[in-house]
Amino acid sequence: MTAKLIDGKAIAAEVRRKIKDRIDVRRENGLRIPGLAVVLVGENPASEIYVRNKCAACDESGVLSSSYNLPDDAPEEDLLALIDELNNDAGIDGILVQFPLPAHIDADKVTEQIRPDKDVDGFHPYNIGRLALRRPSLRSCTPRGVITLLEHTGEPFYGRQAVIVGASNIVGRPMGLELLLAGCTVTTCHRFTRHLDEHVAQADILVVAVGKPGVVSGSWVKPGATVIDVGINHLKDGSLIGDIEFDSARERAAWITPVPGGVGPMTVATLLENTLYATEELHN
Ligand code: GUN
Repeated sequence: MTAKLIDGKAIAAEVRRKIKDRIDVRRENGLRIPGLAVVLVGENPASEIYVRNKCAACDESGVLSSSYNLPDDAPEEDLLALIDELNNDAGIDGILVQFPLPAHIDADKVTEQIRPDKDVDGFHPYNIGRLALRRPSLRSCTPRGVITLLEHTGEPFYGRQAVIVGASNIVGRPMGLELLLAGCTVTTCHRFTRHLDEHVAQADILVVAVGKPGVVSGSWVKPGATVIDVGINHLKDGSLIGDIEFDSARERAAWITPVPGGVGPMTVATLLENTLYATEELHN
């Protein structure tokens, strides 16, 4: 079997086009245009690229983006004060603080400073709690984007065995909650998991989000599985690869995401979806 590719770039473009249409209708009806504030602290080159891509996607779809750059040594109080200002700005529907933050800043404190109705990253304990209790509001972008990709395969969720490799706050944990809500039986593997290969071999749906090339061997993949690679690893030659051995995994899976062009574009498209959701449902 050679897996079909899940074309994240095309699916994300379709999502963004629909958002643009809805924003165009808002404009024609004299309604307020969604506003997103993007905050970057320091000069992490990968973060700079991600933030630039997010702002470009806003411009293209008609979301008003404003970006704020703080120096690497900015005191935590300055960032918290900026978030308060944005929390109180009626023109701002979403606030995104790009991670990772410099070590002297407490990322949890920053996450909790953002008003839950403006938390378009879906990282605030309120929004994670809503998802855990089956009443989702703003949902973490990458996991929600993965669900959109899985929906496009047309494969069912109910009763299928989903295995997630990686238990981060940004991807692995909310991914487990999303797949549970969708009706899967969920296993989350992490650094202390024993016999990772045996867990992976059980997966009808496999999501890998570790950030380590080759952490999952293609030979472990269950024949006919749907395989989602969240990893984006930069090689010295400038190319990007995922976490899963792609060629051998593709020989066994039914569906697989490429890197680049799989999950990455969906994270940005889902951020725009969340911003419009905040405008339409939370700030009307
Ligand atoms: N860093 C890596 N992924 C993300 C994300 O989805 N949101 C934010 N804010 N930072 C990130």
